[in-house]
Amino acid sequence: METGKIRDDFPIFQERTELSYLDNAATTQKPAQVIEAVEKFYSQNNSNVGRGLYDLAADSTKAYSQARKNIAEFIGADADETVFVRGCTEAVNLLASSLDIEGRMALPELAHHSEQLPWRENFEEIDFIPVKDGKIDIDAAEELITQKTAVVSVPHVSNVYGTVQPVEQLVELAHENDALVVLDAAQSVPSMPVDFHELDVDFAMFSGHKMLGPTGIGVLYGKRNLLEEMTPYQVGGGMVDSVTKQEVEYKPAPEKFEAGTPNIAGAVGLSAAVDYLRQFEPEEILEHERELNRHLVKQLRTIEGIKVLSPVEATITSFTAEFAHPHDIAEVLNQNNVAVRAGNHCAQPLMEKHGINGTVRASPYIYNTEKDVRRLVRAVKEAKRVFDV
Ligand code: ALA
Repeated sequence: METGKIRDDFPIFQERTELSYLDNAATTQKPAQVIEAVEKFYSQNNSNVGRGLYDLAADSTKAYSQARKNIAEFIGADADETVFVRGCTEAVNLLASSLDIEGRMALPELAHHSEQLPWRENFEEIDFIPVKDGKIDIDAAEELITQKTAVVSVPHVSNVYGTVQPVEQLVELAHENDALVVLDAAQSVPSMPVDFHELDVDFAMFSGHKMLGPTGIGVLYGKRNLLEEMTPYQVGGGMVDSVTKQEVEYKPAPEKFEAGTPNIAGAVGLSAAVDYLRQFEPEEILEHERELNRHLVKQLRTIEGIKVLSPVEATITSFTAEFAHPHDIAEVLNQNNVAVRAGNHCAQPLMEKHGINGTVRASPYIYNTEKDVRRLVRAVKEAKRVFDV
């Protein structure tokens, strides 16, 4: 991967030349191509969508629907199965509120809070699927997923360990038991080829800001027949075919779920991000992340007192230190221009399982290099000198 050339596309690295940004699981930086697409939309094309009859409104509506089509193609979906939302959190809330279904819910204990809490608000009976060696324990899942299970939620890639989860096996298991599968693809769509049709998941979601796009835009994917059956989560302008004093007729999906003025510039920006990501070969990003993590894990393991939670083949490296709290390590890293996330990563039940209050998490992306890895390791060694007294 030509990281030097890639970095040149990111204005933030021209401003902060010494920054080792390793918090990409939280959010990624934005290339000029995305920033320019948003700027161009606002300066040349801005109007509301699906309403005005003038040329500018038609152009804006076209840009919005082309963005939807482009993004849908990227994830192996059709445009009418691709609902724009603010991000994964809104997508799961929408789904958990709108899905009229009863029964038990199966939820892996490594799920992000956003993947857990909306369901926990709406389902009374939750079965937590345990985790073994960074992955959902399939044997345990086989015991827990039964004919009583209505929904199975699966994170595609863990935001704590960076491990790809056994999605295909879980989809098979869920469908054998007539349960729906919801895929949290927040950490997979940015880094690996993902095709929702091929995976045969019933619903899926991801956020634009974790894949070079703007904040405040993401996607809820749903199989067409399931979206059609669902009642809207929010109601208002733009999502109705007709309103009389007696009756309301909603538009079909995806408009049915997009009440009010949508994040048009966000959709245009996310579409530009998808175009940017298309320059990479399938698996190239995943391999690049794995390569950097391999080196990171190897070097961290040589430091006494460091415990790495992520397996060597992961795309994210989570670790703890006997000699310091994760926040203290992150602060020393910060002083050395290394940006990481430290804490519970919105996965407190998983932290509880490990008996820890958090980890330090490094999550590389397309613009990271060996230099970032070396800088991080040097800073961890410095933290050991400071705290290990
Ligand atoms: N979900 C994001 C993370 O794991 C914010 O950091």
